[in-house]
Order: sequence, then structure tokens, then C-alpha cells
Amino acid sequence: MEKPTQIRILKDLMRMLDAKENVDAGVMYRNPTSVYTCPDLAAREWRTFFKGHTQLIGLSSDLPKPGSYLTLDDFGVPVLATRGKDGTCRAFLNVCRHRGVQVAQGEKGTQSAFSCPFHQWTYSNQGDLIAIPDEQQFGEIDKSCHGLIALPMEERHGMLWLHPDTDGVMNLENMLGALQPELANWKFENLVAMGQTTIAMRLNWKLANDTFGETNHFDKLHKNTLGRITHASCLNYETFGRNHRFVFPRRMIDELRQTPEADWRLTDGATTLYFLFPNIQFIIGNGSINIVCLYPDPEDPNRSISKINHYFTKGAIAAAAEIEGHGDNVTSETVYEISQSDTGIPSLNAIKEVFNSTIEQEDYLMGETTQRAAETGMMEHIIFGRNEPALHHYHQTFRAALQMPPLEEMSG
Ligand code: FES
Ligand SMILES: [Fe+2]
Repeated sequence: MEKPTQIRILKDLMRMLDAKENVDAGVMYRNPTSVYTCPDLAAREWRTFFKGHTQLIGLSSDLPKPGSYLTLDDFGVPVLATRGKDGTCRAFLNVCRHRGVQVAQGEKGTQSAFSCPFHQWTYSNQGDLIAIPDEQQFGEIDKSCHGLIALPMEERHGMLWLHPDTDGVMNLENMLGALQPELANWKFENLVAMGQTTIAMRLNWKLANDTFGETNHFDKLHKNTLGRITHASCLNYETFGRNHRFVFPRRMIDELRQTPEADWRLTDGATTLYFLFPNIQFIIGNGSINIVCLYPDPEDPNRSISKINHYFTKGAIAAAAEIEGHGDNVTSETVYEISQSDTGIPSLNAIKEVFNSTIEQEDYLMGETTQRAAETGMMEHIIFGRNEPALHHYHQTFRAALQMPPLEEMSG
């Protein structure tokens, strides 16, 4: 984000704190609870937003060097993503061309080739079929036509994107829209991946998303966690097409007031959350970024999976590593090595754990009870207040994308 925008947002947050104001959409809406339970709607969502939609699979450091690979299966398609020796990222169906067995095993690692466990047809990490055992007995196969089946993939601004359909068209211009330059400015390519957390719970994926939609619960539900380090009910909010930016102050903003404006950095006084429609939250703190991607359970609208990818800046890792005895000369290479070890830096692991447990043990527990309420069929609507514009925008966008009528305004 450009410096003038950072200063403008910080000043707006300070003004709102002084005036005890929050964002005000000027309108309330009713949201029908059936959107969280309807199997027909869930089937449409799955086709439109998951199987048929561009997906974020991580940041550049999730494929940190030539030979890196990762596997995933979050949108109904087994995927293998690799970084070739030419440095280019590619994605494939993780499916052997012989009899369709899953080729690459494990969640991630470094491998120059993948050998299918069934009969050991072997593929390079660029997808070429390079060996067929017993080839003379098997019969003649044109290897050049039987590489792994490629999926559309692009690495842009440090983000890894793919389309889970071989014929899918990735339109990142549309997906990122007007936020593209601002996202590029965060230099996600410089971050270091430090693990992934999966949370599977009994709530619709949109209810999980809704927990990221306002800050007026920070000093209630999160009073002993997030509420200790943030100012609740104070939000700078802006929409960018289907996406939005959502910035809330941390208590450190009070100290910024004593320092010259030219030295202000948004991350010193506030947390920035970008929502990329339909299912991605980037949460940008001071030295750390968490990306939460939400996926429905395709078999059950009442369940969802959240994949949280954790990243830290090299500066944050180096500072924590030095304090914790990894020496006073933490190089980029050391940062990479430390990042590969889950027990490497306890203070950074603690940051991850607090983030995860706040979501799992606080936010999503609320969402699970809302799910139960929706399933009764007797509570027809929930209400989004004037101070919850992110929820208005998300649900209106969701409904428009599926040609549903807009939310109904509520007069009181
Ligand atoms: S199924 Fe992969 S080698 Fe036979
Ligand atoms: Fe929350």
C-alpha cells in the first residue's frame, strides 16, 4: 500500500477513535438463514465458486525453490503444483496417465521427478513423462503426448493462482480488480511460508467468512485475546468491486500519535484485512500475514474447511531467531532453514497458535451455533447492522453472482 494511503487510513482511525465513531452503512439488512443450509444452493456454489473458479493456493514461498512441490485437494480436483528448474510454477492433475492413480504423495517437499506408486511411470516435475518400466512388454506409448495433465496456473505479485479445470480461464485482472497495485505493493514474494493449519468445523463456509466481517465483537467475544491488543468498533472500510479492504486499529496506534507522521507505517498501528471474493481473507499484521481460504464440504452444506497459511517477514523471523539463540547473524538461507522447522522459533509459533485458536475456539464456535439455529428452519433471518458493511457487501455480491435477488433492507 502506498504511504499516503497508509497515513490517510491511520488518521481516519484516530479520528474515529477520538469521536467514538464506527463505520456506518446507514442501513441494516436481513439475511435468510437458508443460504447456510440449502443443498441446492450449495451445489451451485460449488460449481460456480470452487470447481469453476480461479483459486489461490498460496504465496511464492510455498514453492520456495526449483524442485519444490505441493499437493492439495480442496476444490474437488487432486492437484500437484511444482516449481521447475527453470523457476516457473506449474500445476497438474495429480493423476497418472496409465490408470489414473495419484502420482505425487505427501503434502509438500522437494523432488525432481514423481514416480507413480502403482507401476512406476515417472514424470519430471515439469510434467513430462520420462520413464515407463517394462515398456517393451506394455506397448508403444508416445511419451511426449502423455505427460501430466496441465491446469492453468500463474504466479503473480507473489501469489500462486490456478484454475482447477483444464479448460478454465483464469482472469486475475477481474479477480484482483482495482486492488491489484495495492496488493503488489505489499511484496508478498518476500514473505516466508511457515506452515499451514486446517480447521474443519460444523459451519457453512459463508458463516466462517462472516466471522471476518466486523470488529464490534472484538471487546466481547475476544476480550481476553484479540480484544487486548485492538480497539474494537472502529473500522476503515472500502470496497473494490467484489473485494474489500478492512482496516482496524491495534492499541499501538495510540503510540504512533507521539511520532512524526512521516515515520508512520500502517502495520505499526493497524491490521489490514483484504477480502478477495469469494473465499479468501488476507490478514496483514506487523511482520506476519495469515491467509485464510474457506472451502465448503461438497457433500454437506453444514460443514466447511478453513486452510490457514502462515507467513512471516524475513525481518520478523530474524529478530525472533536472534532473541531465541539462533545467533546474531540470521541470513536469508538461515531464515529458510528455520522456517522449515516447526519448532524453530517458539515465539512465532505462539503467534500462529493464538491466531488459530482465536478463530477455532472463539469465532467458529459462534458460527457453529448459528449453523444450528439455521438448521432449525424456525429462525428465518439473521440481521446485519449498519456497522457491518463488509457483511452487506459480501452477501450482496454473493447473491448477485448467483442471480439471486438482493438482500432485503430492514427498517427496524
Ligand atoms: S497407474 Fe501409474 S504407473 Fe500404473
Ligand atoms: Fe472474531
